[in-house]
Amino acid sequence: MTGTVLVTGATGTVGSAVVDQIADRPVHVRVATRHPSQAAASGGESEPVEFDFERPETWGTTLADVDRLFLVRPPSVGVDRLQEFVDAAVRVGVEHVVYLSVLGAERNPLLPHYRMERHLERADVAYTFLRAANFMQNFSEIHRPDVVEHDQIYVPAGDGETGFVDARDVAAVGVAALTDPGHENAAYDVTGPAALDCYEVADAFTAALDRRIAYPNPSILQFARRMRSRDVPSRLVGVMVVLYTVTRLGLSGRVSDDAERVLDRKPNSFRTFVADHTDCFRR
Ligand SMILES: NC(=O)c1ccc[n+]([C@@H]2O[C@H](COP(=O)([O-])OP(=O)(O)OC[C@H]3O[C@@H](n4cnc5c(N)ncnc54)[C@H](OP(=O)(O)O)[C@@H]3O)[C@@H](O)[C@H]2O)c1
Repeated sequence: MTGTVLVTGATGTVGSAVVDQIADRPVHVRVATRHPSQAAASGGESEPVEFDFERPETWGTTLADVDRLFLVRPPSVGVDRLQEFVDAAVRVGVEHVVYLSVLGAERNPLLPHYRMERHLERADVAYTFLRAANFMQNFSEIHRPDVVEHDQIYVPAGDGETGFVDARDVAAVGVAALTDPGHENAAYDVTGPAALDCYEVADAFTAALDRRIAYPNPSILQFARRMRSRDVPSRLVGVMVVLYTVTRLGLSGRVSDDAERVLDRKPNSFRTFVADHTDCFRR
């Protein structure tokens, strides 16, 4: 497929991988960011454009001539705003929206992703939902200081398992949905190849790094204290506590073969993820 693809969240964990991986496809790529000069400075063939969900005056230029949209909801942006943006995109002729959702969204009306999915189903546009499990990259981003400074996996997941997925695989499924036919009006559960508890996560780190990484199985209170000591905003701490409570209850361990079927290969294991990021976890 040719045409113009707009990537929102393009500087974030999944969106940046979409921009990297779509580069060899015969499409024009527009990178939506609040800081287009930084995106331009990082090079590449794609076209940076100034875009802010909270500033509708930026939407017209961003959406001009766009055929397909990779849609990411930044946690700070309300669902109503995102729905207005989708409606604007449909009005100007966007034909297909690939939406980064979350595993289990279809069963949980409390989640913003539930409302977004239902809105897209009702809109006059083809959709693909990427219902992603927890990203392995959470350990190279928000939880990285625990590994680097304390040699610990420090999340309140209890003994619960998670089907952690490499965000690069989420992006790969997204690129397939954006550029290959046959993904219209589909929903994929995008997980990694195995459900792991955090003792196994710590073992994967120990095997790839030349030091022991432990999982002390912190309580929710201990986790919240550690996060607050690093000045992590309380809203974000609250969201993580809710998500890890779901894991503690044993409800995050589902593994799906949707990614393998779309990509025609196994998604990355946790060990591959750590091995590819060892520099990031050095002291
Ligand atoms: N973390 C997980 O384990 C996980 C699992 C499943 C699903 N998810 C879902 O994934 C989504 C987040 O994706 P991500 O982790 O790839 O993103 P991310 O790394 O948190 O990056 C956020 C992106 O949003 C952009 N952004 C922030 N505010 C914006 C605004 N007002 N207008 C336009 N763009 C704005 C930022 O771009 P600029 O700063 O360049 O503008 C950045 O590219 C969430 O909806 C989350 O629920 C996460």
